[in-house]
Amino acid sequence: MTQFRTLDDLGDLSGKTALVRVDFNTPMEAGVITDDTRLRVAVPTIRDLTARGARVALLAHFDRPKGRPVPSMSLRVVVPRLAELLGAPVAFAEECAGPAAAAAIAALPAGGVVLLENVRFHKGEEANDPAFAAALAALGDLYVNDAFSAAHRAHASTEGVARDLPAYAGRSMQRELEHLQAALGSPKRPVMGVVGGSKVSTKLDLLQNLVGKLDQLAIGGGMANTFLYAQGHDVGASLCEKDMADTARAIIAEAAKQGCELLLPVDLVCAEDLKPGAVTHVRTLGEVAATDKIFDAGPASVARLVAAVDKAATVVWNGPLGVFEVPPFDAATVAVARHAAARAKSGQLVAVAGGGDTVAALHAAGVADDFTFVSTAGGAFLEWMEGKVLPGVEALKGLIPAA
Ligand code: 3PG
Repeated sequence: MTQFRTLDDLGDLSGKTALVRVDFNTPMEAGVITDDTRLRVAVPTIRDLTARGARVALLAHFDRPKGRPVPSMSLRVVVPRLAELLGAPVAFAEECAGPAAAAAIAALPAGGVVLLENVRFHKGEEANDPAFAAALAALGDLYVNDAFSAAHRAHASTEGVARDLPAYAGRSMQRELEHLQAALGSPKRPVMGVVGGSKVSTKLDLLQNLVGKLDQLAIGGGMANTFLYAQGHDVGASLCEKDMADTARAIIAEAAKQGCELLLPVDLVCAEDLKPGAVTHVRTLGEVAATDKIFDAGPASVARLVAAVDKAATVVWNGPLGVFEVPPFDAATVAVARHAAARAKSGQLVAVAGGGDTVAALHAAGVADDFTFVSTAGGAFLEWMEGKVLPGVEALKGLIPAA
């Protein structure tokens, strides 16, 4: 973390305003927050800054309003829950820049907090317009980015502002970067990856990056069918990207060259229909019938993955091994996740996971809390695992003098 300034580099902030980018893009149903994780992870940073006497102005986006005000995408709705979690009042400003935002900040007492309206109500946000970034920067004395999950976007509030103000990583950003570094940057070896999901085509960059870094890579979910097909196995009526067979073979060859052992399913849970409690058949490779659809990895595959987890010092996980939303096709994901979680809990394994589906699967398995670290990020976690540069992280390495 030496590349970034963190809150530890700050002293007393009396009389200063900290502009803090958070990610309050929370799951919501009918205006009610269904998962407040992203609010919770912002609390340590806000508390740290207010304890130093700063006024805190929170910048955030919600949903994709495409550069115009959309009342149903107002951030006002998160204010009560945030205030509850903070145990302190949170003001709200109808605007995120300009005189109304400045007035809302000026009205705060020392140590006060205001949430500014959705930055994506302005076109300049996603365009990373320097004038809009400057208007945001004009509101504060320093910038803190605590939104790792939005760091793959080069937007005004995630990237542009960091060019105009002294920039710091918030506590949540810092935790994400430290754990991701421990998982893939300089991991304890052997390091094993678990990558699932339906399509090879959406995880191509990920697979290509990982085979060069991992000792073992388990592939599950629908994308495993494409690999099995590419190896000449019949996958019946299963989801399979036949046009990706050459690509899958190239990844298999690259893995062999790089010394990364690929772990593909050796048996499969099949059904004719994807429905809860469907009649299932466990098929070995070569037994899959023309009408079979593969929805999960079988027990022998699970035993092999459990043994691989036992050998690993680090596991990094993105994507479920089967259609975990529809029991019993959650069995492989749940069994392997529970095993990894138990080893992580007893200190034998560093287990790091991220991505929307993955986190939902770990929660469903009841093991998310036992993993060493579960990222709050979806797209940003994936891009980071793909080896891509995250603009919001890069911007924190800027050289503007400290506040
Ligand atoms: C997320 O939910 O992954 C982040 O908040 C980014 O949202 P976006 O995909 O709309 O940029």
